Amino acid sequence: MRQEVLAKFQEMFGSEGNICTYFAPGRVNLIGEHTDYNGGHVFPCALTIGTYGAARRREDRKLRFYSMNFEKIGVVESSLDDLNPCGDKNWTAYPKGVIWAFGEKGHPIDCGFDMVIYGNIPNGSGLSSSASVEVLTGVILKDLFEISEISLPDIALYGQYSENNYNGMNCGIMDQFASAMGKKDHAIFLDTSDLSYEYARVALSDAKIVITNSKVKHALVDSAYNDRRQESETALSELQQVVGIKGLGDLTEEQFETYKSAVKDEVRQKRAKHAVYENRRTIRAVEALKRDDVEEFGRLMNASHVSLRDDYEVSCEEIDILVEAAWKIPGVLGSRITGGGFGGCTVSIVKNEAVEAFQEQLLAVYKEKTGKQCEFYVVDIGDGASRI
Ligand code: GLA
Repeated sequence: MRQEVLAKFQEMFGSEGNICTYFAPGRVNLIGEHTDYNGGHVFPCALTIGTYGAARRREDRKLRFYSMNFEKIGVVESSLDDLNPCGDKNWTAYPKGVIWAFGEKGHPIDCGFDMVIYGNIPNGSGLSSSASVEVLTGVILKDLFEISEISLPDIALYGQYSENNYNGMNCGIMDQFASAMGKKDHAIFLDTSDLSYEYARVALSDAKIVITNSKVKHALVDSAYNDRRQESETALSELQQVVGIKGLGDLTEEQFETYKSAVKDEVRQKRAKHAVYENRRTIRAVEALKRDDVEEFGRLMNASHVSLRDDYEVSCEEIDILVEAAWKIPGVLGSRITGGGFGGCTVSIVKNEAVEAFQEQLLAVYKEKTGKQCEFYVVDIGDGASRI
């Protein structure tokens, strides 16, 4: 893909000067969902699919963007003097937001640049295509403008900052962190309370990670997500009246059961319960993986789904059909919704010999019950963003 993006850049913007190429991956989260804005743990990994980019510095303050995924939109021209939070209606809101965030964080960009991108993450699938564009832009800015003092975790944080404040989506740090910091064949055990992390090898010799795309994305995803975040924050402040914690991730299950009556609303109590239990499940899942107990890892994935479905209420009918069908197939060690929810994808750990049956059966059940066609990706875990 690098060659194609470079060729497109030369076609659109000319071949003179120093054109560099970059890649930032999408991610799949194995366990630890809706914990990243609650001071809990997550366990995502970078994929080998993502967003490719070619870029070249300019001498003036112009910005020119072109996406091979949105050819009809064509070249979008803008300028460093035209960065308006929540003002942009097309994909360029993501790179522009990151340029803006660099300025807000004390690294103003003084020269414009031209940029062509191509992403091979299915759009709207919940595999973090937008985070990959943000991280890609961060890596491009760091490289083109030689901003040596910022690190990859900084780039992840600026990406999140731009998504929160430029694009109005109150996401946590997981997606950008995974895209920036991914490591081949490893998942990232990230403690979002202080951004400390550890790589854990995901060496599944006799099983595969299979992502199933439901191809549905329900409306109001962003607003429902922001609502969940709000509910969690309110529950936290209620709990802080009775126990000294900084985030829901500070509580054990036992402590939560002791203090939960401080959360005055039943729905909010369920949200907080999910955040607390999911965080503990994530810690246990990583311990299980370290002792090669993939079966226990799978059971914890299943429990994660139940909690996301019943307590956090971010699943939907289509996703439940896929997950419940997967649970019935021999050789499926675990299956759950992954990402923000309300559609998107499931992630499953499937024994090598069951991968074919898994795909056949899910296709059939999904078609029968929803009339829709799901799609599968048997994925490899890749490295984080870089110049390529
Ligand atoms: C989205 C957000 C992440 C995270 C997940 C849920 O992907 O961007 O920050 O909150 O949802 O785990």
